[in-house]
Amino acid sequence: MNSYDSFLSPLGRSLHESVLRKMGQVIASRSGDLISFAAGYPDPAGFPWEEFRAIASELLSGKDGSVLQYGPTRGYRPLIESILGVLEKRGIKADLTEVMTTSGSQQGLDLTARVLIAPGDVVLVEVPTYTGAIAAFRNAQCRLVGVRQDADGINLEDLDASCMRERKAGSRVNLLYLVPNFQNPAGILLSLEKRQRLLEWAERRNMLIVEDDPYGELYFEDVATAAETRPLKADDRHGRVIYLSTFSKTLAPGFRVAWVAAPAPIVERFDTAKQSMDLMCGILDQRVVHQSIARGVLDRQAAALRKLYRDRRDVMEQTLRDQFGDRLSWIKPKGGFFLWAQLPDGFEDIALLEKAMEQGVLFVIGSAFCVDGSGHGRVRLSFSWPAPDRIREGAARLARAMMPTPVA
Ligand SMILES: Cc1ncc(COP(=O)(O)O)c(C=O)c1O
Repeated sequence: MNSYDSFLSPLGRSLHESVLRKMGQVIASRSGDLISFAAGYPDPAGFPWEEFRAIASELLSGKDGSVLQYGPTRGYRPLIESILGVLEKRGIKADLTEVMTTSGSQQGLDLTARVLIAPGDVVLVEVPTYTGAIAAFRNAQCRLVGVRQDADGINLEDLDASCMRERKAGSRVNLLYLVPNFQNPAGILLSLEKRQRLLEWAERRNMLIVEDDPYGELYFEDVATAAETRPLKADDRHGRVIYLSTFSKTLAPGFRVAWVAAPAPIVERFDTAKQSMDLMCGILDQRVVHQSIARGVLDRQAAALRKLYRDRRDVMEQTLRDQFGDRLSWIKPKGGFFLWAQLPDGFEDIALLEKAMEQGVLFVIGSAFCVDGSGHGRVRLSFSWPAPDRIREGAARLARAMMPTPVA
């Protein structure tokens, strides 16, 4: 059989693929020396291989059969207890009824979509916003409404106006999705003042906020500190925030260990939804992560990675200035993995990507992150993976792709 279309359900037919995943397939199909500023991947050279090896070999010694057994849907209990400690360091007080693990924060986004979004709902997101959230929420058949972003995070006037406009038009509007710390893709840090005002706003407008925080630990001390990344969840007195975080960027994404901290009734529903998705989590991965926290690996990693990625950010900023002068502009990322560059007039993201691929360099097109059809004058450049000399070479290739005449 060649076509299975007639077998697909309406949802199966309309499923949205993450744009980044699609790009990954294009990249895999091309051979040659490619430098990727595209993927938001940590640098594998920064993984604590020695420590992981020691932990894994102890766990796999065969002395404890539960290491490879089924475990609870919510996750390995000692890990959840450790996560409570991680949360406390971030200012968040939670108990065991309010936390569960997920297979990456991506599963937290998918659970949010399944449990909280009905077809036809409006979900408010920033412009730009994370593609994985766009895909997960669209699969729940909602309409994503974009809210403007300022240099210090989401524009609160536009947010309230959008919410009220959609409600007046009869839509159910219950959710706002945000990445407050070093946003993917814009690298922006939401100001503390706006965080407080957002909590008040959520209470006033009866909204829930999905706070997605993979990068909060990766602040660059020259421009941002831990105090500035204090999660909204830390001051969530009225149970308005569903907080997602992950060990993907601080330990390793291959473990697929992340978590949700939310009001107990929501965690309860997520738990039930998760039962039919995966029954349980990968218990071996969870136990490696648990031991990594217990032995101080997580804290050591976070400190080392702040320095590693700050140096990479510096190299990328310097080399872009050297190559482009003021033809490219961006807001300095104070942490995280990404630089959100504005292209010169006359350049367009998709056409430029074609030229860039010919030169052997990749980025993610800006329009992939924008639910309102904008973003064609932007590109997301990730500085997390390529080593400094590859960043320099990649920028030189990008400069060649932009010469001699504008693409559009
Ligand atoms: C904003 C944001 N949310 C969620 C994720 C997914 O992370 P995980 O590896 O935990 O699924 C990413 C990964 O890049 C991200 O940037």
